[in-house]
Amino acid sequence: MKIELCPSILSANFAQLGTDAQLAIDGGGTVLHVDIMDGHFVPNITIGPPVVASIRKATSLPLDCHLMIDNPNDFIAAFADAGANWVSVHYEICPHLHRTLEMIIDHGMKAGVVINPATRVDLITEILPMVHHVLIMSVNPGFGGQEFIPFPLDKIRRLAAIRSELGLGFKIEVDGGVAHDTVSAIVKAGAELLVAGNAVFGAGKPERDARALLAAARKAAGEKAPGKTVGRKSKIY
Ligand code: DX5
Ligand code: ZN
Repeated sequence: MKIELCPSILSANFAQLGTDAQLAIDGGGTVLHVDIMDGHFVPNITIGPPVVASIRKATSLPLDCHLMIDNPNDFIAAFADAGANWVSVHYEICPHLHRTLEMIIDHGMKAGVVINPATRVDLITEILPMVHHVLIMSVNPGFGGQEFIPFPLDKIRRLAAIRSELGLGFKIEVDGGVAHDTVSAIVKAGAELLVAGNAVFGAGKPERDARALLAAARKAAGEKAPGKTVGRKSKIY
């Protein structure tokens, strides 16, 4: 599957969010990852539907809303109205996960399921046919800039094997500590949607750093860099 970079705006400068997001897109980001935190499920508070609605006006790229909130069912309609395209919910907070995923799909959005580092992949097997993506957390959710936890790499490999056994097409997304020193192992384990906050926005050069991270990821995946393919007319003998 195609490698895609999903810049996480959590580490952007919120006073110039539109500008920062556009720079990350210019650097090759093709999905914007938006972290929604409520101070209950995770020990931090971020943004909600009004900010998603503002970002919606600034880009036509998919908005990938990662809900880290209690009672996500109560907010699905609001995120749909705000223009979210993908909504993912944590296995750990959804006692009726099937119903929640159905609600997301019924609101015309792509549904994703997220699992924390300590949650086993096999717990979500039954709902995999419903989801557009599975988000494997490689940090405990709540903050940007945390250190990558390595053992979820095995979960990526396991999930890729299950996907192939079941003949499914969902995407595998990874979130937390995706950076230059970790991206190669992440891609080689089988992930294709790479969420990155600090590695893209942390140094204040989102375009440059998105481009460099994406290039490293594509190299690890054995993909050619865009624009470098040799066409028929320019074939070199
Ligand atoms: C953490 C969030 C992440 C966060 C990742 O709870 O879900 O999306 O932005 O940040 P980095 O890439 O800095 O680890
Ligand atoms: Zn996230």
